[in-house]
Amino acid sequence: MKMAPSTATLVSLLFSLTSAQKIGTTIPEHHPPLTTYKCSVANGCQAVNTSVVLDAFSRSFHSVSSPSSPCTLGSAPLCDTPESCAQNCALEGVDYGSWGIHTKDDALTLNQWRRDPSTGRITTVSPRTYLLASDGQNYESVTLLNAELSFDVDLSKLPCGMNGALYLSEMELDGGRGVSKGLNPAGATYGTGYCDAQCPPLSFINGAANPSKLGACCNEMDIWEANALATTYTPHPCSATRIRTCDSEATCGQPKGYCDKWGCAYNAYSHGYRDFYGRNKTVDTNRKMTVVTQFVTSNGRSDGKLADIKRVYIQDGKVIKNVVAKVGGGLQVDSMTDGYCNATATWTQERGGIEVMGEALARGMVLIFSLWADDGGFMNWMDSGNSGPCNDTEGNPALIVQHTPDASVTFSNIRWGEIGSTFKA
Ligand SMILES: *[C@@H]1O[C@H](CO)[C@@H](O)[C@H](O)[C@H]1NC(C)=O
Ligand SMILES: *[C@@H]1O[C@H](CO)[C@@H](O)[C@H](O)[C@H]1NC(C)=O
Ligand SMILES: *[C@@H]1O[C@H](CO)[C@@H](O)[C@H](O)[C@H]1NC(C)=O
Ligand SMILES: *[C@@H]1O[C@H](CO)[C@@H](O)[C@H](O)[C@H]1NC(C)=O
Repeated sequence: MKMAPSTATLVSLLFSLTSAQKIGTTIPEHHPPLTTYKCSVANGCQAVNTSVVLDAFSRSFHSVSSPSSPCTLGSAPLCDTPESCAQNCALEGVDYGSWGIHTKDDALTLNQWRRDPSTGRITTVSPRTYLLASDGQNYESVTLLNAELSFDVDLSKLPCGMNGALYLSEMELDGGRGVSKGLNPAGATYGTGYCDAQCPPLSFINGAANPSKLGACCNEMDIWEANALATTYTPHPCSATRIRTCDSEATCGQPKGYCDKWGCAYNAYSHGYRDFYGRNKTVDTNRKMTVVTQFVTSNGRSDGKLADIKRVYIQDGKVIKNVVAKVGGGLQVDSMTDGYCNATATWTQERGGIEVMGEALARGMVLIFSLWADDGGFMNWMDSGNSGPCNDTEGNPALIVQHTPDASVTFSNIRWGEIGSTFKA
């Protein structure tokens, strides 16, 4: 199994020299509104006025006294300790349109590249955004144990090598404003507090500078990582509640660290189904589709243990069942049961398996939408070799930008609630 760098890690590293503290005054922060829906079997779906916020690491981080001077962690005396960074540096608002982030009603579109209208120059934006609660101050707490989440996705403009992701991380709901005590007034309002199961060594953790580059570990549930050619869903449980830091590979991840960096993955193509997902396939990625993920417990109640992560697709009003995977020991399943992970991902079982993922889903996690390309590995782990039909080199971002400079993904109609409440066949 290839290591699956999670959605955001490479992007985080790219921007890891900038991030968090006082709040800048140059660009006002206006969160793009995004309607989402909370559903119950009895009452149907109710619209909620949520919005999205861009991650702090993508923002301008600059000197308070001289806004044109960037702040970089490590540059003394401006920003070399958590205190000096918080004292001297400010995190700026962002112009979402220029970052390739657009919302309309219940739809969110992310673009990978932006062409400057006057110079024609192309820059990489690769946004990672979080769902903010209607208060605009805290992330929405998405609790999915004994529940389901549905969304529509149009990824027809994502070729080999791209990854349009919808996933959950167990970040602090206030972006770390509280735990970082005065060091991070910006908080979730400015997209601070990222963490995931790859334990990225971010320059800021919970908005406080991290000069020793500890890893930011937390539970991660990759509900959707995909382009038009390949898709996978993957829980990455951690032996951590909310964010825990780590200082070496031994404490961060494989083989015995806090987090399951590899995860237990379900990818139809890897199970031998070459005609299930893709352009003009059973699930046709040339057109919008609905993706439903159900987190089913052992006893059918919210006090049960997570026992199964089920997936169906809906297109043209027709429910398309997941493929049946034949895994070890004669087991045949069309969903991610504990037995499936036991047979395919011993490393996940060693960290408590999907049951531990279920505990995080019960506590509440942050919903993340991101779009990225993979400079180091060309996304081969997701869409080439045994995982998909792409070849080893076509996912090179330098090639993608030449033939698909308008690479983008649109997520819409995001609904969650009781099992059976978010969709109709
Ligand atoms: C959401 O926003 C709309 C338009 O601003 C408003 O009419 C509606 O009352 C809001 N809904 C809630 C639940 O606050
Ligand atoms: C998919 O079908 C459309 C319409 O029938 C056709 O134009 C297109 O060439 C097909 N694409 C592939 C990859 O087969
Ligand atoms: C887990 O897998 C091992 C080895 O494949 C097998 O012997 C064992 O019975 C499985 N346990 C469960 C609970 O499925
Ligand atoms: C990989 O795919 C691209 C696009 O289809 C093609 O141009 C290239 O020649 C292929 N490379 C190899 C090594 O097959």
